[in-house]
Amino acid sequence: MHFSLVRSAKGAVALHAVAAKERKKFLAARGKREAAFLKAADFAAKEGELKLVPDASGGIAFAVLGLGDGKDPLICAAFCEHLPPGVYRFETPPASPELAALGWALGAYRFARYRKDAKPAPKLVVPEGVDAAEIGRIAGAVFLARDLINTPPNDMGPEELAAAVQSVAKQHGAKFSEIAGEALLKKNYPLIHAVGKGSARAPRLAQFVWGRPSAPKVTLVGKGVVFDTGGYDLKTAAGMSTMKKDMGGAAVSLAVASMVMDAKLDMRLRVLIPAVENSVSGSAYRPSDVLPSRKGLTVEIGNTDAEGRLVLADALAEADSEAPELLLDIATLTGAARVATGMELPPFFTDDETLAADLMRHSKDTHDPLWRLPLWRGYEPTLSSAVADLNNAPDYPYAGAITAALFLNRFVTKAKSWAHFDIAAWVDRPRPGRRRGAEATAARAIYAMLKERYGRGE
Ligand code: BES
Ligand code: MN
Ligand code: ZN
Repeated sequence: MHFSLVRSAKGAVALHAVAAKERKKFLAARGKREAAFLKAADFAAKEGELKLVPDASGGIAFAVLGLGDGKDPLICAAFCEHLPPGVYRFETPPASPELAALGWALGAYRFARYRKDAKPAPKLVVPEGVDAAEIGRIAGAVFLARDLINTPPNDMGPEELAAAVQSVAKQHGAKFSEIAGEALLKKNYPLIHAVGKGSARAPRLAQFVWGRPSAPKVTLVGKGVVFDTGGYDLKTAAGMSTMKKDMGGAAVSLAVASMVMDAKLDMRLRVLIPAVENSVSGSAYRPSDVLPSRKGLTVEIGNTDAEGRLVLADALAEADSEAPELLLDIATLTGAARVATGMELPPFFTDDETLAADLMRHSKDTHDPLWRLPLWRGYEPTLSSAVADLNNAPDYPYAGAITAALFLNRFVTKAKSWAHFDIAAWVDRPRPGRRRGAEATAARAIYAMLKERYGRGE
């Protein structure tokens, strides 16, 4: 059970979630004193408008939250974010009690590693018929990803990220392994090694395997760049300022994996996390270097800031080698994806029409937006190099999210189905339940798709 939820409680304070068009009816059904208070306070039931209504003895009679036109699915997070500590229960729940409980739980998030939160989160009595375990599983996974992403790079190096992978594996009895530093060269992960060798903190490939060995193979690969300076093709100060989130794909992969394992979905799950720091130093890789890859293709480094596709290439090649039924990679891969669809609508790429349709449906159902962009083969020639099989930075200023996806696609040949998610992992326009900072973008939608396919049926 999530820490912001309780199963039952005596004396819980009543909550009402009221749409703007229900305001009159709602006020008419209240006591005279309370209705008068809300009118005096000019309660209009606007989206996110919260009022605490006193009782005769100065306590809280009830709290009411405006839903406005009812379009924000996680609006009930506003209750959790603004109510004083205590226990609450819905007397007038919104249309979906599941989303109300999920919103509440997501609203309880704080990044408190460096500054302890003075106030405990208020608790909600889980509404009738809501699966509290599922809400707790989802919120717990989202919090895990947010914490990993929000942790600054001084405390989240490749080693710490790999330790987080190990900790998730351990929690669910998965088999963890790790290849670090020079061993990456010996074991043939030349690109992961090259990107990470400029940092004093050695690169690594962390991974785990979980589940019935003969179950369908599902593999997640998450970009784990703990900080992206851009390398020698250095980012601007503004561009670098949020680059602690460049391990967001790794964090979201771990969030999805933890939900899958906690829900005991019937699959053989494998998770691969290349964990590196893209630094500037005498040992850093350079623009114009030509590097071998695990798959054998050689890569010319057009730009050291296109490091994500390099570490993913080696991890994807390894993941692909066992021909999984489903291979998903999740990465904060391009600025171009943000230009194309913004921070709140991450694009995904796949050739699998069924998978695309399933993802679109689940993203809608879970209110975790996704949008399909094409693997437009017409841009394939932009990946060419004068000296190597591929160039990591296309000599073409447009469609950067697509050309990055096409680059990754070159390293996937055997998987029955593959999708690539180019996520922001960041909230820049805060909303209830979605504070500014780290976000587990796409984790809930991907989990819902996997649950439908591999759930044991309830
Ligand atoms: N981590 C960045 C992409 C990124 C930037 C994600 C901003 C989210 C927000 C990635 O490593 C990168 O720098 N990509 C370059 C690629 C280019 C050099 C071909 C980019 O998108 O500019
Ligand atoms: Mn980069
Ligand atoms: Zn990056």
